[in-house]
Amino acid sequence: MTDTAIRLADYLAPSHLIESVALTFRLAPEATLVLSTIRFTPNKARPGSHDLRLDGENLTLIEAAIDGVPVTAEPDETGLTLPWADLPEGPFTFTAEVEISPATNTALEGLYMSNGMYCTQCEAEGFRKITFYPDRPDVMAPFRVRIESDMPVLLSNGNETATGPGWAEWTDPWPKPAYLFALVAGDLIAHSAGFTTMSGRPVALNIWVRPGDEGRCAYAMDSLIRSMRWDEQTYGREYDLDVFNIVAVDDFNMGAMENKGLNIFNSKYVLALPETATDDDFARIEAIIAHEYFHNWTGNRITCRDWFQLCLKEGLTVFRDQQFSGDMRSHAVKRIEDVLTLRARQFREDGGPLAHPVRPEEYVEINNFYTATVYEKGAEVIGMLKRLVGDDGYARALDLYFQRHDGEAATIEDWLKVFEDATGRDLAQFKRWYSEAGTPRLKATEDWADGVWTLHLEQVTPPTPGQPLKHPKVIPVALGLLNGNGDEVLPTTVLEMTEAKQSFRFDKLATRPIPSILRGFSAPVILERATSPEERAFLLAHDTDPFNKWEAGRALAKDLLARMVTDNASPGPDWLDALARVATDDSLDPAFRALALRLPGEDDMAQTLHASGITPDPARIHAARRQMADALARRLQPELAGLIDSLAEPGPFTPEARAAGRRALRLAALALVTRTDGGLRAAEAFRSANNMTEEVGALACLLDIGRGQSELDTFESRWGKDRLVMDKWFSLQILYAAPEATAETTRRLTDHPAFDWKNPNRFRSVLGALSGNHAGFHHASGDSYRLLADWLIRLDPLNPQTAARMSTAFETWARYDADRQALIQTELDRVLAAPGLSRDLAEMAERMRR
Ligand code: BES
Ligand code: ZN
Repeated sequence: MTDTAIRLADYLAPSHLIESVALTFRLAPEATLVLSTIRFTPNKARPGSHDLRLDGENLTLIEAAIDGVPVTAEPDETGLTLPWADLPEGPFTFTAEVEISPATNTALEGLYMSNGMYCTQCEAEGFRKITFYPDRPDVMAPFRVRIESDMPVLLSNGNETATGPGWAEWTDPWPKPAYLFALVAGDLIAHSAGFTTMSGRPVALNIWVRPGDEGRCAYAMDSLIRSMRWDEQTYGREYDLDVFNIVAVDDFNMGAMENKGLNIFNSKYVLALPETATDDDFARIEAIIAHEYFHNWTGNRITCRDWFQLCLKEGLTVFRDQQFSGDMRSHAVKRIEDVLTLRARQFREDGGPLAHPVRPEEYVEINNFYTATVYEKGAEVIGMLKRLVGDDGYARALDLYFQRHDGEAATIEDWLKVFEDATGRDLAQFKRWYSEAGTPRLKATEDWADGVWTLHLEQVTPPTPGQPLKHPKVIPVALGLLNGNGDEVLPTTVLEMTEAKQSFRFDKLATRPIPSILRGFSAPVILERATSPEERAFLLAHDTDPFNKWEAGRALAKDLLARMVTDNASPGPDWLDALARVATDDSLDPAFRALALRLPGEDDMAQTLHASGITPDPARIHAARRQMADALARRLQPELAGLIDSLAEPGPFTPEARAAGRRALRLAALALVTRTDGGLRAAEAFRSANNMTEEVGALACLLDIGRGQSELDTFESRWGKDRLVMDKWFSLQILYAAPEATAETTRRLTDHPAFDWKNPNRFRSVLGALSGNHAGFHHASGDSYRLLADWLIRLDPLNPQTAARMSTAFETWARYDADRQALIQTELDRVLAAPGLSRDLAEMAERMRR
């Protein structure tokens, strides 16, 4: 593995740059011709006599020439080398004609077919499956593309500059790396709108979908328009072409892709009607539309020098889409949701064998590094930077970033330098957040004497693979102090921790304060502080910081759940009463109350127990969590019916945050009622639901108590023809299966005629749900481990990228007992022994193997 690794330290500037690219595609399912004309020029930044290496995979080379002289060199498995001796001294033109087969491309990378349409996915290194090219992000060029096909709609990047029967020509004036190239050809219909930019440029907006889906685009379009306006108002960034196209495709490995002027989306993140999409779907669509649009500046105009710098565009763009969603909805609720995801995905990754820095230093397959660490921790690092330099400093740094690096392929060093230059701060120590993996533990203790309260902090980052020793990081700790009445005696103040151990003094205090530490989750760390249940309940009731208010309830629940698992404790009135007060407090946002009622997840609990030195028993966690829900349901029983009725939405469905929050609280209450009424109200809610949120919400309540079979059948007959809705039908049954029935339910569903395993959404909805059911996946029989491994081995030859991503279900093996560890290791060995194993899955399995 290590011999094929690519290293950041080995970076070399490209030998040649490109002045312009012209491509012609003669589309045919199994024999598409790609004609390329590339104007190369030697790179002055890399003097010397260099061969020109062109990447190319699975290409049939028909002919190639340099300034008209045929190339005699033969391509190898990964590309074509044009020897220095054959290259003219100055600029020259390379032409090539290659043949590719989109119809047999099951990896969904490069040019492929989905549901009869042609589409592309080139990030990170897919362009090399289209033609011979220096497929690296620091080679940027303007593209002209001619598409020849009898498909009615022909699209590529930029503006359409000419068209005729059976062909179209697109010109993208903005130099871009090949990974941002896109082409689409198909029988498509546009949902269209217009936008005028802040400087008065009219932009045509189109969302292209298959006929029949055009009525499901309104929310995505509205999200796009709001994103465009927001980026102008918040970052001063304007769109820069005459048209912005989005295409929805059914077969897509990821969520969506920011190709210049032609975003390609998994149809799951475009198509939505109240009847087919849940509130969570609507929120995801809004966020992903925004994310890909925001890449136009943070990713496309300024791109990455190399793939080690991926967080430069992804961390920043996630940070921007989080800001946007907060502005559109609620900052408090958005922050809680983002931290839930961070802990569930990134802390999990950071605590296991796949831990790596936000900017990795080596990789075998770059597709394996589109991770929670690069994305979510990458966004957290930017949030910390903003807190440290302040809103004004951040705004100045970003202005300087856009001014200084527009049109360039930049690095994390460039990024940090604009902050240093704009604010005068030295960020040398801060940079460790990019180079050191692992989640720091922040231990807090206090002293109180003579009106002086002192906070002692200590930071320790545990070792991670390849990084045994860690250094102190800069940790912004947002702190507030409350008095016994719940009044703020110190408003939120950012302490800057830079040492391994540090103390902060606060004097002239009349009474011993109650601290609210790490407000807004000001750093991606694990805060460890011995806190009494009384103090947590006090903060849950009184903290003026909404994140820490929620966090106090969370900590209370986790402490209790841990004691239930380890000491057979049972839920007492302290927790129940504290939670009941929040649940019924009408002065609080319903969305917040719904989050407060959400019990800690089982995987989260396993992670927490493991971190405190206890081997988690998945079956016990599962049972304890249900017992906890039962106790809460009994305690809240007198209020629940009233809560459900009072939250019914009178008017027509709207997807906006206020209404969604009310539905979330209503469903949280319904889930509790279901535990005491045998499913009466949930069955009624299923029957009367007029939107998908309530339809699947009610169905989930029933499945959770082992009912809902007839509702499942109704659902299937109602939605059998709708791929996206049926994904939910598959997932739900597995997510809510009892632990001992999870593997069997999954196996049964993989035999269902609608289990189209080559479709990534469907594969994920089944096998992803299997690993998402914690107690079912980790059932002591090992059946689920075997079943998942079987399917990874089966999918890998067709779609290595998705197989490799889904193998992360095994990354937590070290948390569990020796028997489960051995079972998982056996499966990893079996995966590694699979004939023809892909580089993608091999790298993942090797990193996870003991
Ligand atoms: N650039 C990525 C898409 C991508 C990822 C392409 C990996 C190739 C390999 C895109 O901007 C992205 O980040 N998409 C996310 C969704 C986003 C909201 C975080 C995705 O697809 O999951
Ligand atoms: Zn992205």
